[in-house]
Amino acid sequence: MRFAVRVPATSANLGPGFDCLGLALNLHADFIVETGRPFHILIEGEGAKTIGRDARNLAYRTLVSALVRKGIAPPPLELTIRSSIPVTGGLGSSSTAIVAGLALAELMAGGAVECARLVEPAARLEGHPDNVSPALLGGLVASLMTEERVDALRVPMEKMPGAVLFVPVLRVVTHRARGVLPRVVSHEDAAFNVAHASMLVAALNAGRWDLVGRAMDDRLHQPARAERLIPALPDILRAARQAGAIGACLSGSGSAMLALVDTDADAVGEAMCAAARDRGVSGRAIVTRVDESGTVVLDRT
Ligand code: HSE
Repeated sequence: MRFAVRVPATSANLGPGFDCLGLALNLHADFIVETGRPFHILIEGEGAKTIGRDARNLAYRTLVSALVRKGIAPPPLELTIRSSIPVTGGLGSSSTAIVAGLALAELMAGGAVECARLVEPAARLEGHPDNVSPALLGGLVASLMTEERVDALRVPMEKMPGAVLFVPVLRVVTHRARGVLPRVVSHEDAAFNVAHASMLVAALNAGRWDLVGRAMDDRLHQPARAERLIPALPDILRAARQAGAIGACLSGSGSAMLALVDTDADAVGEAMCAAARDRGVSGRAIVTRVDESGTVVLDRT
């Protein structure tokens, strides 16, 4: 039998919404399972040279454990991953693997993929909800994760901004990028982020592009990550704004960066690449848009 799901890339945090805001992007990874074949993992596109193909592969591992939890013995299978999501960090590629593993297990168990119900298990496996929630639901999503439960709510948007990514060659691993964060923050900085994240959600909801850029400022994670891991970050974000982006931020824990745009997407991409080059950072720009579909089933035959 054949089962396939498509999961979008995501950009977490959006500046001030550390561990709670995320946006789905129109870059995707398809995960295709063929049962009744000897174990084999095939990776095409982004990650073809770097993602593991043995039984420790994250999508495979997640799928097998989810089947076992359902009391189903995992059959021999071939897994193909076909992705246009860069794996150098900040675009939710590990979340796509977790989400795909859980969604494929639902299909293989004969059920439907109910994206809203997969938010909780996916967030528990990932450790934070801000990538998996938009990967499942699409669009802009606010998440609230506590020990008791995980809730995720899609934020309606009056109009959709375009998105430009700058993807440095430099790889940043999330657990390392979390390790450089300060253990303690001041009340003033916490209040700054609460105000900015709230205004960002309101401004994106209302299509008030004039407020988005200012609302994307952050004091909880970007300063430490810029200082310790990505010193060129402020220059590249400034270049995006100067070229006409409505706002710009580190994408998730980096190294990718996200600019939201209304017009001038190509000019913003070029400006980000030029600013990076000036700082000795190589990378590429990707012009994309918001994904509104979230995780979709492509095949179950
Ligand atoms: N909110 C997480 C972090 C996202 O910033 O560490 C990781 O993609």
